[in-house]
Parts: sequence; C-alpha cells; structure tokens
Amino acid sequence: MTPCKSIPRLTFTFFLFFSLSSATAAAAHLQSESENSNSECKGRWIHIRKLPSRFNLDLLTNCSAYPIYDDFCPYLANHGLGHKTHNRSHSWYRTDPSMLELLFHRRILEYPCLTPDPSLANAIFLPYYAGIDSLRYLYGPEVNSSAEHGLSLYRFLQQDNPQIWSRYSGHDHFLVLARPAWDFSQRLSNDPPLWGTSFLELREFYNITALTYESRAWPWQDHAIPYPTSFHPPTLALLRLWITRVRRARRNTLILFAGGGGVSAAPNIRHSIRSECDNSSAISNDTTTGTLISGQSKVCEIVDCSSGVCEHDPIRFMRPMLQSTFCLQPPGDTPTRRSTFDGILAGCIPVFFEELSAKSQYGWHLPEDQYEQFSVFIPKEEVVSKGLRIIHVLKAIPAVEIRRMREKLIEMIPRIMYRRHGSSLGLKAEKDAFDLAVEGTLTRIGSRIEELLAVR
Ligand SMILES: *[C@@H]1O[C@H](CO)[C@@H](O)[C@H](O)[C@H]1NC(C)=O
Ligand SMILES: *[C@@H]1O[C@H](CO)[C@@H](O)[C@H](O)[C@H]1NC(C)=O
Ligand SMILES: *[C@@H]1O[C@H](CO)[C@@H](O)[C@H](O)[C@H]1NC(C)=O
Ligand SMILES: *[C@@H]1O[C@H](CO)[C@@H](O)[C@H](O)[C@H]1NC(C)=O
Ligand SMILES: *[C@@H]1O[C@H](CO)[C@@H](O)[C@H](O)[C@H]1NC(C)=O
Ligand SMILES: *[C@@H]1O[C@H](CO)[C@@H](O)[C@H](O)[C@H]1NC(C)=O
Repeated sequence: MTPCKSIPRLTFTFFLFFSLSSATAAAAHLQSESENSNSECKGRWIHIRKLPSRFNLDLLTNCSAYPIYDDFCPYLANHGLGHKTHNRSHSWYRTDPSMLELLFHRRILEYPCLTPDPSLANAIFLPYYAGIDSLRYLYGPEVNSSAEHGLSLYRFLQQDNPQIWSRYSGHDHFLVLARPAWDFSQRLSNDPPLWGTSFLELREFYNITALTYESRAWPWQDHAIPYPTSFHPPTLALLRLWITRVRRARRNTLILFAGGGGVSAAPNIRHSIRSECDNSSAISNDTTTGTLISGQSKVCEIVDCSSGVCEHDPIRFMRPMLQSTFCLQPPGDTPTRRSTFDGILAGCIPVFFEELSAKSQYGWHLPEDQYEQFSVFIPKEEVVSKGLRIIHVLKAIPAVEIRRMREKLIEMIPRIMYRRHGSSLGLKAEKDAFDLAVEGTLTRIGSRIEELLAVR
C-alpha cells in the first residue's frame, strides 16, 4: 500500500474528471437541444442520473485499500484508460478492464442524445461504480455482508426523486458492472457467504439492465459487452494505420496461447494446450501431419501470462498475437477472457473451446450466426478426454480459408474496441464497442417497456 504516492495522482484525475465532464456534458447537451432535437434522437434519449459522489468518485479514493486485490490507483489515469504505454503513444494505454465503469461514464458524457429531463428519457444511466464498490465485499472488511451490496443505492433511488424509478419500476435503468456477472450472483441463502456479492440476486435490482463482461447462463438483468483492450485510438487515421499493420503482419507462428494456468497435472483444457504446445516441435517434424504453411517457422508458442504479468503490459502479448495465425482462447476461472478481444484486435483468429466463451455472450458486438466465418470451435471435451489434437485441426484449415477468416475478423476490429473519449468526428462515425452497447441497451429497454405497458 502506498497511499502517499497515489494521492496526488488521484487528485489530478479528479480535477480532470470534473472539469472535462461538466464541459463536455454541457456541450453535448447544447448539441442535443439544437441539432438532434427530434429525428436523430427519437427513441434514443438518455438521462444520466445524478448520484452522490459516494457512489462513484469517492470510491476511487480507496484505490490502494485492497492489498489482496491490487493497488488500482495507477489504472485510474485518463478516465480509466490508464497511463499511456509510452509518452509518445497516441492509442496505446495500460488499461485495466475493471476500470470500464469510469471509461463508460466518461464516454456517455459525449453521447449526443442526453437529456436533463428524466421524463423525456428512453433510458436512465446510473453512474454507479458497482464493481469498484464490490471490492469491500469481495476483498475487504465487509466480506460477511455481501448481500448488502447495492442496497444503499436502492435506498437513495427511492428517496431522491422517487418518481424517476417508479415511472417504469426501474425497467428503464442501466449500469455497468466491470466484472463477470458471476461475481454478483451469490445466492442470498448462502450463509456464511461464498464468493461474490448478491447484487444481481436482490429483488430490488431485478428490473435493471446490467452490462457485464460475462453474462450468466440464464441471464435476466445482465448482457455481456467486450472487455476493453489497450487500444484506444483518438482518430480514424490512427485506427486505419493499425488495421493496415494488422493486415500486413507477417505471421510466422501458427498457434499462440497467451495466458497462465495448466501447469498442474489435473486434466483440463489449459493443461492439454501446454502439453501439445511443448510437444509441437516433434509434431512439426512428423511428415504424416503435413507441413507448415509457407513462411511459418513455429507451430506453437506460449506467452506466459501467469501472476498477471501481461495485464498492464500489452506489448508482451500484442506483438506475438500480430505474428500468429490462431490464438487459443480456453476458459480459465470463468469462460470469457479479455484476450479474446486482444486477439481480434491483432487479427489473430480465435479458437474457442466453449460456446460460453463468446458465442452466447456478445451478440451485440459479434454476429452470433457468423462465428464459423471468423473463428474456430473445438469442443474442450474432445481435446481433454478424447485425445483430439488442436494442432491437427488447425493445420487442416486451408490457407485460403485462413485469409478469408482474417479479413472477416479485421472488419470487426472497430466494433470491439473502445475509442478514446474526445476522439475526432471521423472516428465517431464508426460504431465502437461503447456505441453498440448503448444501442443494444436502448433496444432491450425499449422492448421491456413495451411489454410492461402492454400488461398495465
Ligand atoms: C474507504 O475504506 C475505508 C476503510 O475500509 C472505509 O471506512 C471508507 O468508508 C471507504 N471509503 C469509501 C468512499 O468507500
Ligand atoms: C514521460 O513524460 C513525463 C512528463 O512529461 C516525464 O516525467 C516522464 O519521465 C516521461 N517518461 C518517459 C518514459 O519518458
Ligand atoms: C466472516 O465470517 C467468518 C465465518 O463466520 C469469520 O471467520 C470471519 O472472521 C468473518 N470475517 C470478517 C471480516 O468479519
Ligand atoms: C419490478 O417490476 C415489476 C413489474 O414488472 C414490479 O412489480 C416490481 O415492483 C419492480 N421492482 C422494483 C424493485 O421496482
Ligand atoms: C506429448 O508427447 C508425449 C511423449 O511423446 C506423449 O505421450 C503425449 O501423448 C503427447 N501429448 C500431446 C498432447 O501431444
Ligand atoms: C525437429 O526438427 C528440427 C530441425 O529440423 C530439429 O532441430 C529438432 O530437434 C527436431 N525436433 C524433434 C523433436 O525431433
């Protein structure tokens, strides 16, 4: 814990946040009122609920208070993008995914259809940093009160302008949970509590929409949105430059796994990947399994990301991903991984081992009916217990097919990245992960309300 070191930086972040946010909100609002008033914003108006700072900014002051989690003070910089990887970098940051609540808050201040009048809004955004607030239950002193996560927010919403909530019984409210929904789904009946808070199990929050990195198998409130990568370009030119680099990259490795785990003897997919990869030099000499695609010098590479060494150091994995054809995306503690999006960004074709890893999650961002056009699916049971070799499956895919998949993947890059706040107009015209999340939320809330009005 280094509170002395972190405080000045934090104050700076706060100052930036306040000054920029009020200016942009005002600008966005003016724009909303004049240009966009009816046609373009019809059905898309969002009201940002004013919350006391104890629900968002105050929570950041405790950024070094959870030593068993992490000191997350450094990740707060640049409205949650983190520090730039280098002083001269324009697009690359040391982004920690758990900061999406800040990043989303900053981005929504630029949303063109904001309204100060909640009664005109199609959706109400709650700028509550729910994942950051959950740390005191997950890792802090309130570990035994995890059923209370969110109740003070609910009490506030019932006391302060209660008509905003009661108009549609909260069905029009949404927020961001920058963690898998699993972390918020502990049964209220578990005593003593197991892992997680009960935020999504509380009746009080049954009606809201929660944007998470991983939705539950039978989601009710939650819908999954992409993990942020480290790439947040401010202009269309920088995005295009990156895409050109991805397209031209010389991929001399067939298969890459960037991650940890699988080192123990327990049979699981990560263990199988490790042992296949370690054996791969032998396999590549085996003439019966075919030859390497021309120009490829390595069959399989592992970038060891155990103990979180890669998390804030994108160069460690982005360069190998640019040099590889396939990126393995096995489940870990939970089925989804940030690495899926890092890999797409690098044009490295994802290999999934479970449908829960992406296909049943990111319907707003990745076309659910086109997975075979940009990814490979190898059921993990086939590999772990039936001896199917990942390398054999991937080597059998013809080069022309690989090129087609990569092109499709590259097309999707703008949709899965979060561009930098305050970016150029040209870039704003492309829909990014934030835009698609808001679009999906508005559609979802719209149909909820329709149903609600139909039964009233
Ligand atoms: C910060 O942590 C301290 C100690 O756990 C706690 O008393 C305080 O309420 C926390 N502040 C916020 C804003 O959560
Ligand atoms: C980056 O810039 C800051 C302030 O301009 C400076 O203090 C720091 O030393 C620079 N870092 C590097 C790696 O050049
Ligand atoms: C939580 O409850 C467990 C079991 O009752 C107890 O051992 C532990 O000390 C409690 N933790 C805190 C922080 O109160
Ligand atoms: C959730 O919505 C239902 C109707 O759809 C309503 O009966 C219930 O009171 C709402 N819950 C809350 C906490 O507002
Ligand atoms: C790796 O090689 C060993 C020894 O040749 C063999 O027993 C094992 O089945 C191989 N594993 C995989 C996954 O190829
Ligand atoms: C595979 O071939 C390379 C060079 O052709 C050789 O250096 C390497 O030792 C071989 N590996 C095995 C396991 O035979």
